[in-house]
Amino acid sequence: MKKILTLALASLLFASCNKPKELNIATVSPSDAVTEVMMSRRSIRSYKDSLISRETLDEILKCGVNAPNGRNIQAYEIRVLSPAMIDSITKAVVKDNPQIGQRKGFRNIFVDAPCVLCIAYDTTYDMSQVDCGLLGENIILSAWSKGIGSCCLGSSARWIKDSPSARPYLQKMDFTEGYELLYCIGLGYPNETPEAKPRTMDKIRYME
Ligand SMILES: Cc1cc2nc3c(=O)[nH]c(=O)nc-3n(C[C@H](O)[C@H](O)[C@H](O)COP(=O)(O)O)c2cc1C
Repeated sequence: MKKILTLALASLLFASCNKPKELNIATVSPSDAVTEVMMSRRSIRSYKDSLISRETLDEILKCGVNAPNGRNIQAYEIRVLSPAMIDSITKAVVKDNPQIGQRKGFRNIFVDAPCVLCIAYDTTYDMSQVDCGLLGENIILSAWSKGIGSCCLGSSARWIKDSPSARPYLQKMDFTEGYELLYCIGLGYPNETPEAKPRTMDKIRYME
């Protein structure tokens, strides 16, 4: 089992483009492979034009829904936006907030990602936002292991919810009653290699 996992993870890493870095298939352990994916991931805000295939996206989403979640209720809903919807939502949000479209090279309100997921949480379940976060992290790490970059987007969800012109598109997402858009994830093949931002271990305290 360990060997299968090792080979699967190593081949995933080999399949990716430039990042995460290639590991030696003969020697890499599952732990090294997972650690490399987690530590090399960065938020991507510049993407190549190439699109993610439906098959690859399905694999990524399958990893997403395999995340731990409260009582296995899976208290989230996901919408994969079509390119037409990305454009329409962008136009609607920019109509109400013209300054958003003034960024140099602006393509859309999802840091220009060619693929966008909208994730909604169950407002009646106190752990639903945790479910949504874990779902998203699995999606993001699975994508990264395949050489696909991503950016978790709180601002895009806020803009959609706050823009009267975007309301019809929010309705079109047709989330179940009681569910509310929480955040978006932009996905696509990276066109940049950002440096890691500093992290602190100071937030952690081992208790006696
Ligand atoms: C809940 C959440 C909301 C975020 N919203 C945005 C956003 O609106 N726009 C953006 O460019 N990045 C957004 N990010 C990405 C963070 O800025 C990024 O994860 C953080 O700066 C650390 O950088 P790294 O992901 O490259 O390690 C968000 C991340 C999280 C977890």
